[in-house]
Parts: sequence; C-alpha cells; structure tokens
Amino acid sequence: MFARKLARNYDLLVVARRQDRLQELAKALMTAPNTRVEICTADLTNDQDVASLAARLSAEPRLGLLVNNAGFGTKGRFWETTLDSQMQMHQLHVMTTVRLTHAALENMVPRNEGAVINVASVAGFVRRQGSVSYCATKSWMNIFTEGLYLELKSIGSRVKVQTVCPGYTYSEFHDKMAVQREMVAGKGFWLTPEQVVDASLSGLERGQLYVIPGWRYRLLTALVSKLPSRLRIGVESMRKAARADQGATQ
Ligand SMILES: NC(=O)c1ccc[n+]([C@@H]2O[C@H](COP(=O)([O-])OP(=O)(O)OC[C@H]3O[C@@H](n4cnc5c(N)ncnc54)[C@H](OP(=O)(O)O)[C@@H]3O)[C@@H](O)[C@H]2O)c1
Repeated sequence: MFARKLARNYDLLVVARRQDRLQELAKALMTAPNTRVEICTADLTNDQDVASLAARLSAEPRLGLLVNNAGFGTKGRFWETTLDSQMQMHQLHVMTTVRLTHAALENMVPRNEGAVINVASVAGFVRRQGSVSYCATKSWMNIFTEGLYLELKSIGSRVKVQTVCPGYTYSEFHDKMAVQREMVAGKGFWLTPEQVVDASLSGLERGQLYVIPGWRYRLLTALVSKLPSRLRIGVESMRKAARADQGATQ
C-alpha cells in the first residue's frame, strides 16, 4: 500500500523476495502516467543483499524517503519456534533497519531533506506471550526512531523520522502465520492497509514522530504506557496461556 500511495509523488524502488509479486505490482502502478517503479528482488535478512541496497541508498542523489516496512510474526512460545525464525526476525526488524536507516540518513542529513518511516506496531508498546521477539523488536524500532528524532531535532534538521504503529491490519501477515483473524481480535480492531498508510503519510507531512492509526489503538497504547510494570505484567499473566499458541502478533 505504501508503494501504491507513494507512486504518485516518488520514483520508487520496491524491494521484496517474490519477484512475481513485485512484477505484478510494478505493472499495476505503471499504468498511471509519469510513474517510475523499479523492482529489486532481495532477501532483507541476507547480509549481502542488505549491503548492496545500503550502497544504493547512499549513492542515490535525490533519495527522498525510506520505508522500512518488511516484517513478519511467529506463532508460539519463544522456545517452541525455530531459533532460525527468531534470529531472522531480529535481523530483519533490527539490523536491517539499522543498516538501511544509516545509509539513508548519511545521504539525507547533509542535504537537509528526506524522511524515514519505520513500520513498527502497537506490539511495540506491550509484551505478549506468543510474540516475545516481535514485541521486543517493534519496541526497539520505537525507541530507535525516537532517538533519531531527538538527534535530528537537536541540529535543527528538516529530515523527518516516523515510527508508525499499526494494530491488526488486513494483509498476508496473519495468513503466513496460519492465524485465524477472528481468533485474535474482533472486527472493530482490524485496520485496512489504506488506513495505516494514509495515517502514516499525513502524519509525516505534520512531522509526527509516533503515528498510531485508529482511536482504539491510540487509547490502548496511551493506557498501557501509563501502567506500572507490576500491573502490566499481572494483566498479561492473566491472559489465557492458550492465546500464546494462537499467535497474538499484530
Ligand atoms: N498486518 C498486521 O496486523 C500488522 C500490524 C502491525 C504491524 N505490522 C507490520 O507491518 C509491516 C508490513 O507487514 P504486512 O502486514 O504488510 O505483512 P505482509 O503482507 O506479510 O507483507 C510483508 C512484506 O514484507 C516483505 N518481506 C518479508 N520478509 C522479507 C525479507 N526477508 N526480505 C524482503 N522482503 C521481505 C514481503 O514480501 P516477500 O514475502 O515477497 O519478501 C511483503 O511484501 C511489517 O513490518 C509488520 O510487522 C503488521
């Protein structure tokens, strides 16, 4: 959805692993006049792929926006999932974000223009059974982006950073985890990708650091952030252990 919305204003480089899906997307987007879309097949958990992409970002003379969007969830308690899936999640959500954001900001800050959007999650505000690394890495994304915001502000830079924190959103995310949507949240809690991206891009125009699409999630995160840790842990402990098997990720 980011690509669909951004194609109106930016020349795009869209990165993912599945070439057929990228080609389909590029074909659909390029039906609009003056739209330029380049696709790049890369695995963002692979060091070499990430290094070449970072080099590309560093060398791009008019780099306007980096969206760190790729991410995934796992189902089950930490020790019941494969170590590989846990390592890959940390690699993708944390190390790839570090590397690409570094390349982008090295380029943008001297030019005093550009922006980075990190797609985190409301999961970054909570700690949940069944989503241990997911919550930890998305929380890291929030803290990382907030730190960058402070540094950029301190030098009066016009470069913007944002962490967008969606709740449950219709996409392939839960299908890949074989999670039934109705098992994790009621209909009122599900967002469309368009709602998330619209909120993110309008927030970016206003220079908003944290964007939490949907009033339910704004309320939830505001409340959770105020809870003392003992109460927060108590509430989460009461949640049925069975939910951990369903995959509570969002
Ligand atoms: N859906 C939700 O409920 C929800 C809620 C909060 C936050 N989020 C976050 O939103 C972001 C987008 O997720 P989504 O909901 O749109 O899920 P999605 O439909 O599964 O999309 C994930 C995208 O990331 C790409 N990707 C995944 N792993 C990759 C890798 N190793 N290398 C390159 N590309 C990779 C996928 O393409 P390929 O598979 O072709 O590589 C796909 O385009 C994620 O960061 C997710 O954590 C989602």
